[in-house]
Amino acid sequence: MQPTEIKKNVYQVGSLDWNIRDFHGYSTYKGTTYNSFLVMDEKIALFDTVKKDFKSDLLHNIRKIVDPGKINYVIVNHVEMDHTGSLPEIMEIVRPEKLFCSSMGKKALLAHFHKDDWPYEVVESGQTISLGSKTVQFIETRMLHWPDSMFSYIKEDCLLISSDAFGQHWATNEQFDDEVALSELLRHAAKYYANILLPFSSLVKKLLSNIQETGIEIDMIAPDHGLIWRTDAPGIIEAYDSWSQQKGRQKALVIYDTMWHSTGTMAKSIINGLLMEGISVQMIDLNVNHRSDVITEVLDARAVIFGSPTFNKGILPQMADMLTYMKGLRPANKLGAAFGSYGWSGEAVRLINQALEEMKIKIVDPGIRVEYVPTHDDLKQCVALGRKIGKAIKEDA
Ligand code: FEO
Repeated sequence: MQPTEIKKNVYQVGSLDWNIRDFHGYSTYKGTTYNSFLVMDEKIALFDTVKKDFKSDLLHNIRKIVDPGKINYVIVNHVEMDHTGSLPEIMEIVRPEKLFCSSMGKKALLAHFHKDDWPYEVVESGQTISLGSKTVQFIETRMLHWPDSMFSYIKEDCLLISSDAFGQHWATNEQFDDEVALSELLRHAAKYYANILLPFSSLVKKLLSNIQETGIEIDMIAPDHGLIWRTDAPGIIEAYDSWSQQKGRQKALVIYDTMWHSTGTMAKSIINGLLMEGISVQMIDLNVNHRSDVITEVLDARAVIFGSPTFNKGILPQMADMLTYMKGLRPANKLGAAFGSYGWSGEAVRLINQALEEMKIKIVDPGIRVEYVPTHDDLKQCVALGRKIGKAIKEDA
């Protein structure tokens, strides 16, 4: 990637990771980017670095603009290694006067790199520094999504360098929102929100209202992953506002795994019941859908219905994986139910219901268990379950 001037004297100098396909459990079918921003002013500042393996790309891009040794300030908005893996080597080359970070950022940097001789300068939320003609304001965004996270806002450019927030895992030669189909971009942004920020939705809501109260004007949002919001910054803020509310629409997911098609057949009948109630549905076989894509669908769903046969007195491994992943992401305001076939012991429905309770999902029905292969009457019951959930969704709207 060539450096790109995104605002006058502000350059994106980060790197593309075309072939990464897994980001700690999040499938990145389209790779990702590690964005880093270089501001040329009386004081030259570098905002965030890149993953360790991409250090050469970063240095190459910086060198096209300035000798890295001339950089005065390094700003660490977020300590996770995809943005700091290259930091120790960059610090050796740059030897900046100051390294700006939040108080939790300093703590995390020390715990990661064990460098107590770096020129840390801890900043507080709202604090500003001057680079010469440009002013940087720091906005702490604790737990969005790490304790150390913060934004850097360049006042004169109305530019928000937003760390992970508003990002997308999408490697592409385009760099701005207006260069790609907005629907695809929003799809990537929604997946990012669902898999990274969902558990912190109440903090997102609070942050957005704080930003609104302070009245800071945002013309451009430059996240640390993916494309830069040059044209539709208000659109992605609005999307975050809506996702953080987790209201869900009249949509239900039937998420299942099956051994000999019994649970799969039940899933189809539940779907039919939901359709009879006019609910938008998705039938999700966990053998062919990645957990991180399922969570993206959960984001705007109102109901989640899980099905697994009983397997070794438990549930199938794909279902256990899905429920564990989902529990960590803490989706709110969902309705749920369970179903599944069994041979002799039949624990699956109880175990799924237990997981739903732990996730504070409102259980609409105790669930349906079917011995071996469903009969016509069993499938009628499944249709009825779908209808019951459909009605509950509509009543709750
Ligand atoms: Fe992109 Fe939380 O790191």
